Order: sequence, then structure tokens, then C-alpha cells
Amino acid sequence: MRTVELVERKRDGGRLTADEITFLVDGYTKDEIPDYQMAAFCMAVVWRGMDMRETADLTAAMVATGEHLDLRRFGPVVDKHSTGGVGDKTTLAVAPLVAACGLPVAKMSGRGLGFSGGTLDKLESIAGYRVDLSTKEFLAQLGRIGIVLTGQTADLAPADGKLYALRDTTGTVPAIALIASSIMSKKIAAGANAVVLDVKVGSGAFMKGLPSAKLLARTMVAIGRAHGIAVTCELTDMDQPLGCAVGNSLEVAEAIATLRGEGPPDLVALTRLAGAEMLLLGGKARDRQAARRRIDGAIADGSGLAKLRELVEAQGGDPRMVDDPGRLPRAPHVETLHATSTAYVKRIAADEIGAASVLLGAGRETKGDPIDHRTGIVLHAKVGARVERGAAFAEVHHAGRPADSLAIAQVRAAFAWSTMPVAPRKLVLGRIAS
Ligand code: URA
Repeated sequence: MRTVELVERKRDGGRLTADEITFLVDGYTKDEIPDYQMAAFCMAVVWRGMDMRETADLTAAMVATGEHLDLRRFGPVVDKHSTGGVGDKTTLAVAPLVAACGLPVAKMSGRGLGFSGGTLDKLESIAGYRVDLSTKEFLAQLGRIGIVLTGQTADLAPADGKLYALRDTTGTVPAIALIASSIMSKKIAAGANAVVLDVKVGSGAFMKGLPSAKLLARTMVAIGRAHGIAVTCELTDMDQPLGCAVGNSLEVAEAIATLRGEGPPDLVALTRLAGAEMLLLGGKARDRQAARRRIDGAIADGSGLAKLRELVEAQGGDPRMVDDPGRLPRAPHVETLHATSTAYVKRIAADEIGAASVLLGAGRETKGDPIDHRTGIVLHAKVGARVERGAAFAEVHHAGRPADSLAIAQVRAAFAWSTMPVAPRKLVLGRIAS
């Protein structure tokens, strides 16, 4: 087989067989196919798409590059994943809460992708936190404390690790086949019995409208069904950032605040929604109401926060950063943006805020770039809020580089204002389940 012929066929709208897809995925994982050819292939998929059969074959080929864990001895294991958004730190709050309720959580997360942040980058704000557990370590920790948050390794879905980094910096993220296979290959490899997926919709998501988000959700439900995994997709708004913090250590601090019962309302609502759904799928609650009560209980009694501390310690991180988020890395400069007249926030362009955070160093411009965990944006007002003249509506945490002024201007421009009252945005837009 010749790689260039497969790239050309996809470029021209043709279909690939299972063997051809395996050839590409294996070759790329083993470094036999170079980045430039795989990037060209991914771009062809962005434009031409893959049908359901090709997407399923791509997922299977990615799973087959590593191990497939059997977690049956731990009882039902429920996983959670977001399709990616700006300020989405839900996993950092939900996973410990669910584990604190007695349901094991074994989660393989990803790094930042395009303008969206990644759980692994956020976790690495915590000094010493390891995201490269071996399979042996993964299983031992799951048995010991009932929670693992790690990344793809040489053992688990290595193809996704490589492809993910390539797509991040080649403009090849927003393709349903690539997102669905990336997410589901990790879930299948990590041995989940059930998965709760948060499919983001809006300017700060890879799916800009509800129809494409629904198609992505249905694709992942179908892949799950083929592998015996129950999948629930919540479709949620990403037309403004989630919560108030955007940027790695700022988001970790906000997740800790959520576990302390002091989170922003939208983040708390999503945390309760996803957490309750996970408990329900894992058989730990008889109905949604009971499941929500258990999540609320784990916030109120501090057991969710204690579980995060246990997780951080188990993975080599400094647990004092959980006890005192003031110890997390902090940017040396904070620029506060003030309203020039009294008005209501009409829009906060999530993609612009995400792009500004990348400019500040909180995301990657090119593959393998280091991340500045300290930088980011804090919103003081969300859509619908009334801001008085002279009051702060956002903060930009920056390193003090000359280019940071561009990011500051971008954050200012991301806000649209109205003199008339504006309704808050609806957070939950639908559900598609197997
Ligand atoms: N999350 C993933 O793991 N992969 C994607 O492609 C997008 C979001």
C-alpha cells in the first residue's frame, strides 16, 4: 500500500477499507508514516468526512495499537469525556465526586486541542502530577483508591496520543470521525462499561451547531453499542466559556472551589448533571434525583475534595496545592478590564477567549510546545449579567511578554454588550443515549 494513494483517495472523496485504515494508523503509530502525510490525511478527513463504517474501523484500529484493559474485577467502571470546550474543567470536579460515592472512575484524558483546554495540561499545573501511568500503575491505583486520571501511554491507545498532538497543531480537529474515534478509542482501551459524554455545542466547541453535535453524539453512541458500552451524551452550551476561569492552574483552582461548594453556577450544574448520570449508569443510584443528592452530599461533606487530594497524591502531585490553591502557579501580571458604560453582557465569544488563552501560552501553537500553566483569563461577568460602568468584567493573567497585549485586546473584543436586559444562556440543550 502507498500512503500517498490513500491520502489522495480521501482527498477526492473516496472510501478506505478497514485494512487501509489499519495500515495508516499502525504506520503512523510506529513512526513509519511521517507527520506531513498523516496531517494531509487528517485534513482530507476534515473536508471529506468518513462514513460510519470507516469511523468504526478507524476507532478499532486505534484501540488495537495498544492494550485493551479488562476492568470487570472492579465492578462497573464508568467514564466521562467532553468533546472539548473553553473553560471546561468539569472532569476535575466530577471524577473525584463520583469516586467518593463509591463508583470507580478510570479515565484517560487528553491535552489541550486547538483553542480548547485539556485535562492533562490542567492537572500538570499541580507540581509533580504524573499523567503517564503504565498499565500496571493504572490498575493498581484503581484498585487502591478507585480513581485514575491519566493520559494515553505506549500501552493505552498510543495512536490517539500521536494523532491528537498532530491534529492540535494542524487545524485538523473538527471532523466528526476524528473526534469520535479519538474519544471512543480511549474509552474502549481503558475498559469502561459505560460512558457519559458531554458534547459541546457553540462557538467554543468543535461542533458549532446542534445538527453536527447530534451527529457526533449518534456516532459515538453507535461505536459504544458495537463495543458493548452504554453511552449517554449530554449536549451542552459552549457559546460562552464554562465557569469563570480559562487557563490551566486557574481552572484547577475553580474545580477545587467547586468541590468546596463554591463553584460558579453553570459549572456546578454540569458537575451535578454528569456526576448523577455516571452514578445512574454505574448502578449507584435508583433515579436521577437520588443520584444528584449523592453528588450534593459528596460536595457538602468534603469527600469529593478529599478524593481529589488522594488522587493527586497517588499520581505524584503536591497535595498541598489542593488544600491551598494559592500555591498553584500564578502569573506575575494581572490586567483587569473595566466596563466603559453600564450594560448587559450580550455575548462572550468562547472561541476568541480560547484563542486568547493560547496566545497567553496556556495552549500550544505548535506540536510539543511547552505550556505556561500560570496564564489565562478570569471572567467576572457571564452572558446576561449587568455590569456597572467602571466595574471589572474580566482579568487577564499574563507573563508580561510584549505579545500579551494582543491577547488582552482579544479578550476585550470577545465581549459584546447590550443596553437592554439579556437572558442568561440555556446550558443543557439535549440528550442522546444508547
Ligand atoms: N477529546 C478527545 O479526546 N479527542 C478529540 O478529538 C476531541 C476531544
